[in-house]
Amino acid sequence: MPTENTDSTDESRTAATGTVVVLGATGQQGGSVAAALRADGWNVRALVRDPAGSRARSLAAAGIETVPGDLGDPGSLRAAFSGAQGVFSVQPNAGQAGAVVSNEDEVRFGTTVADIAGESGVAHLVYSSAGVVGATPTGVAHLDTKMRVESHIRGLGIAATVLRPATFMELLVAPDTGLDRGRMSFLMGPDQSHQVIAVRDIGRVAAAVFGAPERYVGRTLEIAGDALTGEDMARHLARAAGRPIRYSRLPEALLAREETLGRLAELAGGRLAGSADLDTLRAEFPFLLSFDRWLAGPGAGLLEEALRPGDAGGHR
Ligand SMILES: NC(=O)c1ccc[n+]([C@@H]2O[C@H](COP(=O)([O-])OP(=O)(O)OC[C@H]3O[C@@H](n4cnc5c(N)ncnc54)[C@H](OP(=O)(O)O)[C@@H]3O)[C@@H](O)[C@H]2O)c1
Repeated sequence: MPTENTDSTDESRTAATGTVVVLGATGQQGGSVAAALRADGWNVRALVRDPAGSRARSLAAAGIETVPGDLGDPGSLRAAFSGAQGVFSVQPNAGQAGAVVSNEDEVRFGTTVADIAGESGVAHLVYSSAGVVGATPTGVAHLDTKMRVESHIRGLGIAATVLRPATFMELLVAPDTGLDRGRMSFLMGPDQSHQVIAVRDIGRVAAAVFGAPERYVGRTLEIAGDALTGEDMARHLARAAGRPIRYSRLPEALLAREETLGRLAELAGGRLAGSADLDTLRAEFPFLLSFDRWLAGPGAGLLEEALRPGDAGGHR
């Protein structure tokens, strides 16, 4: 769903004087949101499973309050949300590599967070969903979990904003894409367009949303920083890497063997491609990075790692 066409002005932003609780702050999205909120001057409280772990300690060193808790422990959520003005909600998903959660876990976590935010008087809940989510199910159970959480939040009638981020740019330089061998494989065909976003920008958008509740409460924003075909991705990657990179869709045999991957590849020609209104988004959030700017900036280290010869099997 495209965003509405509204301009963002500094004058419209609320002073960042309260506390925002960030879930998943030791992970990609939550880490980005915590950093962006902190940079805007919010008091940031991160709910962490292991306060002594290195990621939690890095958060604390950056001026972020860390409190122990677990998405499966409602009491810890209640304690963390006490006195907070905002909550950023993100959950792990069964489709992630090495996932230990079920689809039902994700839905239970996401709906419980919303329930407790409502009961605790939190003034603004920001829920991170996914670009592929819409009014109808996709038929892929681990994508449709987020439609169920979105629908629960709307049913509660609490002050909330839903962000639907596109595919992360970080995923395109994952070790199993084949970049170390001059290859890049993903779900879409070579000339099918696909929207992507830098994880850094999810944090910046979330911070802008918390900073202007009167503008964003009640809205659902599909967010992306770029739209690229497979060939475009390979061209940008080759330029950044300084070596040839050839794109091909994931092998047909793999897509036939792995039912969920096959279904995702089908969706890549349709709604998984994304339908964010990039022009409007870039006007509203001018910091949004294109893929080539991300490769030259925050993504440079990840690209370097992916280019290093490795023995990861992946899809190659
Ligand atoms: N990849 C994409 O392109 C894409 C696009 C759109 C949406 N998404 C969605 O993004 C979500 C994942 O976000 P991410 O990539 O930021 O996650 P991530 O980097 O894998 O981090 C997961 C975070 O959740 C925390 N966590 C996990 N289980 C928990 C529990 N029981 N209680 C409290 N905290 C818990 C982890 O804490 P620990 O440090 O303790 O493990 C970590 O901070 C998924 O729902 C996925 O579907 C992904």
